[in-house]
Amino acid sequence: MRVFSGIRPTGELHIGNYLGAIRQWIELQEKAECVFCIVDLHAMTTPYKPGELQKNIRDLAIVYLAAGLDPEKCIFFVQSEIKEHTELAWLLGTITPLGELKRMTQFKEKSKKHLEYINAGLLNYPLLMAADILLYQTDAVPVGKDQKQHVELTKEIARRFNNKFGKVFKEPKVLLPKVGEKIMSLQNPKKKMSKTDGPHGYISLFDAPEEIKKKIMATVTDPGRNIRYDPLKKPGISNLLMIYHIFSGEPIKKLENDFKNKGYAELKKSLAKILIDSLGLFREKKKELDQREVYIKEVLDRGTKKARSLAALTMENVRKKMGIF
Ligand code: AMP
Ligand code: TRP
Repeated sequence: MRVFSGIRPTGELHIGNYLGAIRQWIELQEKAECVFCIVDLHAMTTPYKPGELQKNIRDLAIVYLAAGLDPEKCIFFVQSEIKEHTELAWLLGTITPLGELKRMTQFKEKSKKHLEYINAGLLNYPLLMAADILLYQTDAVPVGKDQKQHVELTKEIARRFNNKFGKVFKEPKVLLPKVGEKIMSLQNPKKKMSKTDGPHGYISLFDAPEEIKKKIMATVTDPGRNIRYDPLKKPGISNLLMIYHIFSGEPIKKLENDFKNKGYAELKKSLAKILIDSLGLFREKKKELDQREVYIKEVLDRGTKKARSLAALTMENVRKKMGIF
């Protein structure tokens, strides 16, 4: 089984990215052929600083390594290093109706959020994502719930291409985590945790202990005092219980019981401690990897070489089928 996924290098990663995506990757690398990409071209569709992009790419590579991805077991590389991604994205655009791109939830949301920056790249974003996935003959795409729609569109594009030109692509399926597919913002538990929300809405994987404590204690919760998992009526507390559950391994029922006669503050304090302990490991590994510039470059270069030969194979076939050989 071939697995492909990617994350945009837009600065810090938060625990939503970790729980929704990376945690699944770590399990998958043991049993599948995994390709993980740093999708820098996607990061350029929302406002960004050119001078910071290379640092963000390097930091994301460090996150991949610090989280436990093993370059001996999986391939990782930077998207813009392999020209086939943009080439295929263009070709897929020629068989994709405009309406299908316009109805994507992420396009609608992001164009509302960045009124000054609604660019064609934002609209074409899913075409590039489809190219990423289809180039590697991917079977499964492990992502958080917000990306499900894009993977389904990819499948549709693959099917359309195969029908029109002859079979080239595998039709990929989405792989959502069993729990944690959508971690909510700490400041607004009805919205997903996101980097664009301001630092108080999320916990970064590299936040210092004091920051973690401050952010968790300031989490927006719900009226009442009951500590109960009920995402509709108690979205704030339920989000905290979910995060607690995944990081501690304790069942939610047990947590409800343990905190039965205690207040929200108690739950928050205890959760902060769990997070500080769990994320401490990341911070330590990051510190170590920050010193290993050459090693990181080497890992990415090796990944690029392997990925390039896979991508070239598919691309040759695509060009032939489409009549441009
Ligand atoms: P991005 O930072 O948008 O490139 O997202 C990288 C990965 O993290 C994707 O697989 C997303 O689905 C996942 N992800 C982002 N935000 C969340 C969230 N709040 N909860 C769960 N998964 C998320
Ligand atoms: N669009 C994804 C996100 O915002 C990132 C991404 C780009 C991706 N290409 C991909 C994810 C291919 C999975 C597969 O999170």
